[in-house]
Amino acid sequence: MPPSDSSAWLTEKAVLSYSAIEDARLREVLGSLIRHLHECVRETRLTEQEWEFAWTFMKRMAEFTSDARNEFLLLADVIGVSQLIELIGHERASSAVGYALVGPFYRANAPLRQRGESIVRDETAGKRVRITGRVYDLGNGAALAGAELDVWQAATNGLYENQDPQQPDYNLRGRFHTDEAGTFELVALMPTPYPVPTDGPVGELLRVAKRHPFRPAHIHFIVSRPGFETLITQVFVEGDEMIDSDVVFTASDNMIGRFRPDGDHYLLHYDFQLKPGVSTMPKAPIP
Ligand code: BEZ
Ligand code: FE
Repeated sequence: MPPSDSSAWLTEKAVLSYSAIEDARLREVLGSLIRHLHECVRETRLTEQEWEFAWTFMKRMAEFTSDARNEFLLLADVIGVSQLIELIGHERASSAVGYALVGPFYRANAPLRQRGESIVRDETAGKRVRITGRVYDLGNGAALAGAELDVWQAATNGLYENQDPQQPDYNLRGRFHTDEAGTFELVALMPTPYPVPTDGPVGELLRVAKRHPFRPAHIHFIVSRPGFETLITQVFVEGDEMIDSDVVFTASDNMIGRFRPDGDHYLLHYDFQLKPGVSTMPKAPIP
């Protein structure tokens, strides 16, 4: 009998031993996880030493995890799991902007800002971009007044405000609302590429894989309105060479903005489409 058959009973027994879980969804996901993990062990004939390495790696990820940082989320991001969840959960018309992972640096309750205001709260180096656009119903094209845009981005030193004690609280973050015509306007920094944190186990993994740690330049947006599915997205810069090698596999053709130079700054016009549905906000990884 081949080795895979002689161990199949163990997998079934392990799955069955969780069949008393009352929550059907939890039972389904856990059962699938057990089956796939067992299959991975079977397929690779994982050794004891390799398993020791794996749980030590997880222990080290835990040591790098705190209120300010989640190394497990970062691992999920760099192996494509976070973006896969977005892709599967939100199939969209090709005319609509795509969904992006939220990333570990989102903070809830960013200050509400006036139309046209800048999210740059210090004299941070870098060019500015004036962003205008419209939020509308994906189904019928109707303008959506009172939609909220929650915007955040990294400074030109590659750090988000909550990674960098030199930046003022909520620098490069803000919430804006659309007007009666569904339009908005704001000023941000012209985004620049930055690396994900590489001082922990995930950084080691990237180095072993000879992967660069960069995200192409982008600005994050969460666009929401009661009665509509919340859109979590990012806008990337047309022509950015790193779009094809985004370390977290998010950048894609349906998230590209045309940033046009205009004197000493840039202009971007970019629309967001919302689909009727339930409005929810993501959990902020960092308080
Ligand atoms: C970000 O875009 O903020 C981000 C996403 C995933 C991992 C690290 C950073
Ligand atoms: Fe980011």
